Amino acid sequence: MKKHLIAPSVLAADFTKLGQQIELVNNSEADWFHIDVMDGSFVPNISFGMFIIKAIKKIATKPLDVHLMIVNPEKYIEEVREAGADIISVHYEACPHIHRTLQQIKATGAKAGVALNPGTPVSVLDDILEDIDLVVLMSVNPGFGGQKFIYRTIEKTRALKEQITIRNTNTMIEIDGGVGLQNAEVILKAGADVLVAGSSVYKSEDPVDSISRLKNIIADTIIT
Ligand code: DX5
Ligand code: ZN
Repeated sequence: MKKHLIAPSVLAADFTKLGQQIELVNNSEADWFHIDVMDGSFVPNISFGMFIIKAIKKIATKPLDVHLMIVNPEKYIEEVREAGADIISVHYEACPHIHRTLQQIKATGAKAGVALNPGTPVSVLDDILEDIDLVVLMSVNPGFGGQKFIYRTIEKTRALKEQITIRNTNTMIEIDGGVGLQNAEVILKAGADVLVAGSSVYKSEDPVDSISRLKNIIADTIIT
């Protein structure tokens, strides 16, 4: 049985005290750090780049799951890996040569992920599923934290999970956007392995407790 994971999204952290916000996750039950890189071109927003990834890597005690929302991601794969990424996800919509880009990520030693926008069907992955370590299903339109979960993602998760089971690949499914205590159960039941949680963790009164509650939902939902 695969382990189910929680990945707090640093985008929702208070950057005036970034060190403290990273330590908080270090000292929680969370599994990965989800790190959103936005370029103002693939998505309408600009977040941060190598400089911040490197700073986080210095103190993070858990893997860095880097989500590249950028055009031409193949230009930056090696640099992102050197900055400290353990998992690198690129957008299907930004990669005309997705198979090649996945091999490029793996050649650096990182795990390779593909992210799909809400409007992109999971069937586009049919011919590359065996090459993917992580599928990031966007449950909001990428670019901003704090948006509402798009419910259609549940159907997409089920369909993708079915394919993974039939083909017996090791691919993990990560759900990204609008995830929190209110919908974690239904998302897990649909077949998700990793829950990204930005606002529902960092903007809550007690982030460590919110992580712990999400972990409890995993324990109650997943029968091992
Ligand atoms: C959206 C990002 C998400 C976002 C999640 O473009 O990819 O990772 O930070 O934040 P919440 O959980 O607040 O929707
Ligand atoms: Zn993300």
